[in-house]
Amino acid sequence: MSLNLSLSINGDSRETLAVQLRNAFRTRIEEGVLRPGTRVPSSRQLAADLGVSRSVVVEAYGQLCAEGYFVSQHGSGTSVAAAARTDTGSALTPDDRPPTAAVWDLRTGSFHPCTFPRQDWIRAVSTVVNSAGRRELGYAPPSGLPVVRHTLAGYLGRVRGVRTRPEDLMITSGFAQGLALLCHELRARGHDSVGVEDPGHPGEWEFIANAGLRPVGLPVDRDGIRVDALAASGVRAVLTTPASQFPTGATLSAERRAHLVTWAETVDGYIIEDDFDAAFVAPTQRMPALQSLAPERVIYAGSASKVLAPALRLGWLATPANLTTPIERVRAGWDIGCSGLEQLAFARLIDTGTFDRHLRRLGADLQKRRQAVNQFVARHLPDVTPLGGDSGLQAYLVLPGRCAEEAVVRAAHRRQVLVRGGRFYALRADDRPPALVIGYAGVRGPELGRALAGLATAYRETTGRTGS
Ligand SMILES: Cc1ncc(COP(=O)(O)O)c(C=O)c1O
Repeated sequence: MSLNLSLSINGDSRETLAVQLRNAFRTRIEEGVLRPGTRVPSSRQLAADLGVSRSVVVEAYGQLCAEGYFVSQHGSGTSVAAAARTDTGSALTPDDRPPTAAVWDLRTGSFHPCTFPRQDWIRAVSTVVNSAGRRELGYAPPSGLPVVRHTLAGYLGRVRGVRTRPEDLMITSGFAQGLALLCHELRARGHDSVGVEDPGHPGEWEFIANAGLRPVGLPVDRDGIRVDALAASGVRAVLTTPASQFPTGATLSAERRAHLVTWAETVDGYIIEDDFDAAFVAPTQRMPALQSLAPERVIYAGSASKVLAPALRLGWLATPANLTTPIERVRAGWDIGCSGLEQLAFARLIDTGTFDRHLRRLGADLQKRRQAVNQFVARHLPDVTPLGGDSGLQAYLVLPGRCAEEAVVRAAHRRQVLVRGGRFYALRADDRPPALVIGYAGVRGPELGRALAGLATAYRETTGRTGS
């Protein structure tokens, strides 16, 4: 096997070549650059690559083995020892450590690998790769391949009523990049703050703050974001989730939609519509995108993270025409666009109708899970109130009065159920009732029942309440 290694030694140094080589390996191992278990090239190959005599490498390797940095096994070569000293601990805090297989993950943002349409994706990628020529394998335009933007514009118009032109669509690296681009441009236009829903997504507030803007929390109720509070806040841009408020699941009412657009026109401002989970809104609750009411005021943002997989890092922005060029300029300074092949595979899924079929299946599956959560709550946690109907990817459960939210979360963790309390999603500390937010995108089938049973036991243990 021919292994490559980035390493150099200096013929002018006063140290012998073998010592230099040994020190170079030791430093890389101690810094964690060369990880335990990493195979290193054979002495013959490394000597040839470095242009030194093989005996130099044999001497260095022998020393590293003697010091416990390397292990050498007949037939399988030499590698960095499993117990080799490394100074770098895990950057992950205990709470962020990936859950073990025995843990049920009811946190929002979790994802079930079964829901990714592997065969469809493989077929689409295979078709695209087989037919890719010079243009497809070269640099895609930073805003995305025109043919893909054309397909996506048609799709968004058909499914969400989005009114856009392919040239005003930008393919982004997920919603996250779209938000970061927009915040950057808003800052350049003199904005110093952005209104956000409270409760909402703490990760988004971080993106906003990183762009030098202040996230201003705005209350939400059963009709979605409170436009009266928005108007009183003084901000001129707002980030909102009208289809299904994250995390409460409320749909922005028709009346509020009209008020929101009037507000944006009055303050000469912008609305960022995060439509990432619209596919999971129950058909009876579904409304066209807010953007369809005011394409010059609303920046529409979508994502493939929930409908395909977060790993694709595929998202899109439909910008008002006067923002398109400025946003493209910002993007040009950031990267050179997203993978053209993945864009083409995504467009192929849409063009062949495979994506629609997949979404119908996935939507029905998630709706079933949501109904299972609601039924479980009604039966086993009767004093808990779920918000948001039968849609979305998470259920927001309001707990009774003085229930200690954090204690329930901790008790659930002890029962191997990862879940978050409402406090996690709150920007302002206020007197909102305690809550649990149950993300059910990552757990399905009988596992969901087990996870909910563990949660209910944790709840009863903590509150002393009895349930059936
Ligand atoms: C509120 C919200 N918006 C958008 C997204 C999608 O983000 P991205 O496309 O960067 O994965 C998520 C993902 O969890 C989300 O929670």
